[in-house]
Amino acid sequence: MPGHGRPEGARTRLIRVDPERIDEGALGEAAEAIRRGGLVAFPTETVYGLGADATNPRALAGIFEAKGRPRDNPLIVHVPGEEWLPGVASEVPPAARRLIDRFWPGPLTLVLRAARLPAEVTAGLPTVAVRCPAHPVALRLIELSGVPIAAPSANASGRPSPTSAEHVIEDLWGLVDVIVDSGETLYGLESTIIDVTRDPPVLLRPGAVPVEDLEGALGSRVVVGDAARGLADSEVALSPGMKYRHYAPRKPLVLVESDDYSGEGYLEGVASVARSLAADGRRVIVMASDEHVGFYRAAGLEALALGPRSNPFAVARRLFAALRSLDGSPADAAVVEGFEERGLGLAIMNRLRKASGRAVVRVRGPRSRLYRAPAPRPRAAAGHDAPRGRDARGHRRARAPGRRARALRGDGGGGCRGMGRVRPVAMTIAGSDSGGGAGIAADLKTFAAAGVHGTLAITSVTAQNTVAVTGIYDLPPEAVRRQILAVHEDMGIDAAKTGMLSSAPIVRAVAEVASQLGLTLVVDPVMVSKSGAALLREDAVEALARELVPRAKVVTPNAPEAERLTGIRVRDLAGARAAAEHIVEQLGAEAAVVKGGHLGGPESVDVLYHAGRHVELRSPRIESRTTHGTGCSFSAAIAAGLARGMGIEDSVDFAKRLVTDAIRYGLELGAGHGPVNPSSWVDVPAERFRALQDVRLALRVLVENEFFVSRVVPESSMNVAAALPAPYASGPGDVAAIAGGIGRFGRRLVARGEVEFGAAEQLAAALLGVSERFPEVRGAAIVASGEEVSRAMESLGFRALPSGGRGAALGRRDLGIAVSEALRGESAPPDAVVDGGGPGLEPLTIVFGRSAVEAASKVAAIGKAIAGAGTPSTDRGRGASGSEGHPSGAPGLFPRTSNV
Ligand code: TXA
Ligand code: MG
Repeated sequence: MPGHGRPEGARTRLIRVDPERIDEGALGEAAEAIRRGGLVAFPTETVYGLGADATNPRALAGIFEAKGRPRDNPLIVHVPGEEWLPGVASEVPPAARRLIDRFWPGPLTLVLRAARLPAEVTAGLPTVAVRCPAHPVALRLIELSGVPIAAPSANASGRPSPTSAEHVIEDLWGLVDVIVDSGETLYGLESTIIDVTRDPPVLLRPGAVPVEDLEGALGSRVVVGDAARGLADSEVALSPGMKYRHYAPRKPLVLVESDDYSGEGYLEGVASVARSLAADGRRVIVMASDEHVGFYRAAGLEALALGPRSNPFAVARRLFAALRSLDGSPADAAVVEGFEERGLGLAIMNRLRKASGRAVVRVRGPRSRLYRAPAPRPRAAAGHDAPRGRDARGHRRARAPGRRARALRGDGGGGCRGMGRVRPVAMTIAGSDSGGGAGIAADLKTFAAAGVHGTLAITSVTAQNTVAVTGIYDLPPEAVRRQILAVHEDMGIDAAKTGMLSSAPIVRAVAEVASQLGLTLVVDPVMVSKSGAALLREDAVEALARELVPRAKVVTPNAPEAERLTGIRVRDLAGARAAAEHIVEQLGAEAAVVKGGHLGGPESVDVLYHAGRHVELRSPRIESRTTHGTGCSFSAAIAAGLARGMGIEDSVDFAKRLVTDAIRYGLELGAGHGPVNPSSWVDVPAERFRALQDVRLALRVLVENEFFVSRVVPESSMNVAAALPAPYASGPGDVAAIAGGIGRFGRRLVARGEVEFGAAEQLAAALLGVSERFPEVRGAAIVASGEEVSRAMESLGFRALPSGGRGAALGRRDLGIAVSEALRGESAPPDAVVDGGGPGLEPLTIVFGRSAVEAASKVAAIGKAIAGAGTPSTDRGRGASGSEGHPSGAPGLFPRTSNV
């Protein structure tokens, strides 16, 4: 079979091996090829390697030939365990011991004094690079071969390392004997190489193990030179491989570096480099972090997402595939964003600097400076230091126009509604609601959620709650007038809305000031409260129709109010259309929306009549009792839209969406119609962000304690999750977790994917099962079950409940039910629920906390208790995790009751 070196299409065999269930027969054939002196490309957890018998000079020569690799570049020897070291290295210093204990098997290569090995392996150096990979297929292949395997990455020399068998096929088909395909590699970056023959040890190549972790394990510094950062070629003797161009796509690639990768100046700098590269008609693509692709696309550039900046692991994993994809894409050149040189960022930057052939542009602050670029010099951003009074984008820094000027103009500042101001100003002219659900209260919440500054003129004070209105106390019309004037004179009013106006004199006072000041007005003709009380006296209805409606930009009646105003029957869509048209054409408003909330049917349809045409706005009808304040919120949101300079249709559409959410997430308070929740418009995105952050932090807690936590990783993978708070959590889509969970490689933990909502259905169901009963519980982690875990929890004083049992027939999805059943009769949340599993179901423990971080801290405490380290029970309240101020897994986190 071998005859290596002669490219023959028929030579290569592709073998698929599932790492979870290794087919020994198939892998045995690959091992046989190694033993006979052949070449085998095989997966490791970093990248695919091209392996040959490290003791066979002829086989080794084949590697250099197949890859086109310079012969002075030595190879890494792969062993299945440290027991094999004596045959490879002549000496293992204490620092190497420590690193082996901590990181093997795993993506760490040690440079040691060499034993007697063929010169092809060491390139004649006195040292040898050795690594013990963590990939089960790699380990088994070496064992079956019975010899150490020397293997560089399985790419044609100079190209990006292969992270899938497809990449190997691209580069080496026909040049090697066997390609073992086990899917994509985990890290996507090569191993970290450290030279431990020197003191202090020297980092030769940053890789999948961050140098900070090495220093942590060694308890001392590691030397990181310019070569390791990819800034300079290393001396030949140090690490021969580092002097060649590496990882390079075939097309020009420019790297844009900066001290601040999130500043606007940086984004603009990258865009300007891309544009200058494109100047001579080249098609240019920007390779950017997920957070930034939107910016480049909005700037009219093509962009490729590399993964989130917040998750360098994900970026590293995709990096080589992205570099390769450039060659197959229609782009002629690429610009790639840089990353902070911390953690995996150091390795990412090393690869990017090399891949670009060190074609680097550096962007500082708002201006860009070049120190070496193959491309034409990009135009420096105009105005290096933003002139005073301008923000980073060069926009005028907003300041309200002078009060005197505005008072003289007497136009309410409405000329350019809200634009160019720190915050547009909106006003509500309405009654108060002591229950905080409707009126002024609803309006101010809506203004805040809609991003405008809310001001108010109270017309009436009402005593009311979700059930009834028990008192109405009108203010004198003069009091209403003065409130409006006071605000107008000082800060201007970009748009106002009226709600409950109560009496004809108040209606008249408001109409008068409104026309005097030229207010942009939304009129919500409030007549009856949700609880049925009349809020507008009879005589006021006519004043409203005759004096205020004609001055309104938008009028927003519900069906009964539209009937009262127009005399038209509004029982269906046709009636609503006719009434809306009547309010505009006959009563003189600029636009009218007749709200369909009262009309029934599966949808809630609002009809807008404006500029001679009807527009229907539809939303699914939400069955809800929490509708107190709906109409107020709706008209306030329209006023906010207008204040921000939006057109009528856009403002109404925005209001419809905001109110639909406000009802969906209404607050079940009081015995009647609970208040709507306009804050949900900003709460939901904010809480989603917080949940993602919580899980990311929790992951850090777990990883920082991985030495202990690795003891409790279940076979089916660990995960940690955070749920949105009530009333925003209703299903697994409202729970953030790590996609694919957290895997274990030896003592190392690795997140398999990104932090996402809906990523862990089982765990989400369990968490929601608890947080429904105990809303303070917002975080959970899933770990292994067993004697050790139970004993550890007991020693920590954790309260663990047995689950209701999942049972084989129920399947895994029902962990939620199992957990809910465990809570029956409980009056305080448990620290954990232990599920015994069943036929085909692994026993699992779900640990709960008020946040994902707290749950993770408890997991760390459990791991430590098992290891007998840190004795968390004696560290009570002081931080048992022992690392950078993370909350500890100290027990007693939930108040406990005695009736357990
Ligand atoms: O993740 C990895 O390390 C992958 C997988 C296949 O194990 N292997 C890999 O090998 O990346 P390769 O050949 O692409 O890179 C090995 C690097 C080269 O830069 C080489 O110069 C350096 O290790 N190296 C090998 N022996 C050395 C030695 N004795 N002293 C210094 N550097 C050495
Ligand atoms: Mg390589």
